[in-house]
Amino acid sequence: MRALGIETSCDETAVAIVRRDANGHAVIEAETVLSQIDDHAPFGGVVPEIAARAHVDHLDHLITATLNEAKLSPQDLDCIAATAGPGLIGGVLVGLVTGRAMASAIGVPFIPVNHLEGHALSPRLSEHVPFPYLLFLVSGGHTQILCVEGVGQYERWGTTLDDALGEAFDKTAKLLELGFPGGPAVERMAESGDADRFQLPLPLKGKQGCDFSFAGLKTALRLTAEKHAPLSDQTVADLCASFQRSVGETIKDRMASALTRFSDRYTSPPVLVAAGGVAANKAIRAVLDDLISARQGRLVIPPAHHCTDNAAMIAWAALEREAAHLPRFEPSARPRWPLD
Ligand code: KG4
Ligand code: ZN
Repeated sequence: MRALGIETSCDETAVAIVRRDANGHAVIEAETVLSQIDDHAPFGGVVPEIAARAHVDHLDHLITATLNEAKLSPQDLDCIAATAGPGLIGGVLVGLVTGRAMASAIGVPFIPVNHLEGHALSPRLSEHVPFPYLLFLVSGGHTQILCVEGVGQYERWGTTLDDALGEAFDKTAKLLELGFPGGPAVERMAESGDADRFQLPLPLKGKQGCDFSFAGLKTALRLTAEKHAPLSDQTVADLCASFQRSVGETIKDRMASALTRFSDRYTSPPVLVAAGGVAANKAIRAVLDDLISARQGRLVIPPAHHCTDNAAMIAWAALEREAAHLPRFEPSARPRWPLD
């Protein structure tokens, strides 16, 4: 079965054509993605209306380009899948309406996909990662620990009580005037900083459960920065390094609790998948690596272009659900749509 996937829930317009072969493995026949980072950079964050308009401007060209790259015509497709949420509603509507219209014109089923399910199954796009595994999803919009037990079987063990981690990186960068997106800029500055100079809080450390909170850390960072104004380059670097250290220690504490819960439930060594833009951060990867090596488990980080928002994961989630004979969702756009 072959699906064309559409992803428009945030600031990436993406289209992919994916086939599920006889062994149940993914074959990516073509994928294209257009990032809107330059459109949003002047505002220091994603502006929903600009995002929606950019999806309208580019989506149809990307669909044509993806079909051409795969040397396929619309009649070669078995279904069309599009993100139906969660996400910025204007963008979600663009992808959903386009996908539905295309499916109806070709005469194939339209399959609405939960964007989070796309992320949850994304490691299986490039290698056969067996169930169950833990997913640490850290992006600009999400910070979640999910236990992925099978296709359509997800338990959310942890989530953020306030900001997403990527958002915390972006707000830190904005405060320190490092530009957008903030994560890579903060990581770069942290390399020349002293992580021990500022003792920032470790939110929820030692508390039961696997939830996160970053609002207190953000406020502490702002107050510290204000106290040291005007900021020298070295102080900015020290603030970034101290922020990253607090984030790392928080992740270590929260994830340790998730891994313990995993080991209480399953006898197999833990498999931890990290996805989302923040998973690119080397300091965070090192923390996850340490945690998982200590438990003789395996850390899987999909290739960068499948860690961030992409359409291959949307097409693939649709194919996995169809193969598992799961019911199709209602084709309506949802700004919020938890997985479990
Ligand atoms: O998954 P993603 O590309 O898009 C969505 O949010 O859906 O994630 C983007 C987020 C941004 O907040 C960005 O600042 C963060 O991921 N990010 C990073 C790094 N690279 C991207 N955060 C920390 N360290 C990085 N190296
Ligand atoms: Zn995403």
